[in-house]
Amino acid sequence: MAIERTFSIIKPDAVRKGVIGGCLAKIEEAGLKIVATKMIHMSQRQAEAFYAVHKKRPFYGELVEFMTSGPVVVSILEGDNAIAKYREVMGATNPAEAKEGTIRKAYGTNIGENAVHGSDAPETAADETGFFFGTAEVHQY
Ligand code: CMP
Repeated sequence: MAIERTFSIIKPDAVRKGVIGGCLAKIEEAGLKIVATKMIHMSQRQAEAFYAVHKKRPFYGELVEFMTSGPVVVSILEGDNAIAKYREVMGATNPAEAKEGTIRKAYGTNIGENAVHGSDAPETAADETGFFFGTAEVHQY
């Protein structure tokens, strides 16, 4: 499998709980390399655009409100099969259904406040990464 990149958000609930390090540890333990990372506080406009695909869903307003409720940590992760691997590390969207050892099982609260976001496909990974990062912010080591 070729080296791939994916995009990650450590959401406001996990930042408030003080588990940024816990989330990043699980990412690194899985063999994913953090090649860019920063803390940001999303504006309403950014969150609405980032989640535009969910605009028609009943939880859209709540989602935007939550994602702008505090700072988040956005990162670019790199590794073999990074998109699928990170989805495995995150666990099921609903923390109640997430497997033992996953980030959402350890740190998620409910389906809305579920600690982390990860891209679901190569196209979304590229789009989401471009939304928050410029090429100069990506590092190799
Ligand atoms: P994420 O991977 O960030 O992408 C869309 C988000 O919508 C998802 O994680 C969930 O946190 C959120 N979401 C999905 N279903 C619901 C729901 N029923 N109620 C509130 N939020 C939801």
